[in-house]
Amino acid sequence: MSRRIFLIRFIKGFFLVLALAWAGVLALFAYPARVAEKRVRFFDIMDEDSLPRRGVKKVDFTYEHAGETSSAIVYIVNNDAGVYALSPVCTHLGCLVKYNRHADGFLCPCHGGKYDIAGNVTAGPPPMSLPRLQLKVLNQRVFVGMRV
Ligand code: FES
Repeated sequence: MSRRIFLIRFIKGFFLVLALAWAGVLALFAYPARVAEKRVRFFDIMDEDSLPRRGVKKVDFTYEHAGETSSAIVYIVNNDAGVYALSPVCTHLGCLVKYNRHADGFLCPCHGGKYDIAGNVTAGPPPMSLPRLQLKVLNQRVFVGMRV
């Protein structure tokens, strides 16, 4: 085999390997590994009597999951639309929003995202509403459902 033929085959082989590597990367994007589905679990956050009669209440709580203790925050809203729970995690980049009574909504301190009292985006970059979390009352205790 001449040096010229060897060099041509080597270059062809190099580009073939490169093309296969790119095909592998594209296949990973097209068929991503299945992310384990997180299940909704309910955590005891407070006594039923502590539910806000009207308005918004920020609830800090801790919960146990998989042998670890974690802390979380949820906003409980009670208004004409009923009682519901909102996640405080901004849907833009995940900062924690704060309730602002004067604006009657939630403001994100990071990039100016604004949400109304129902969690709908009213201004700024957030792409979607604040997630609503399931609430249930059992034996005078309030439980919030979270994906963990
Ligand atoms: S993280 Fe909330 S607006 Fe960017």
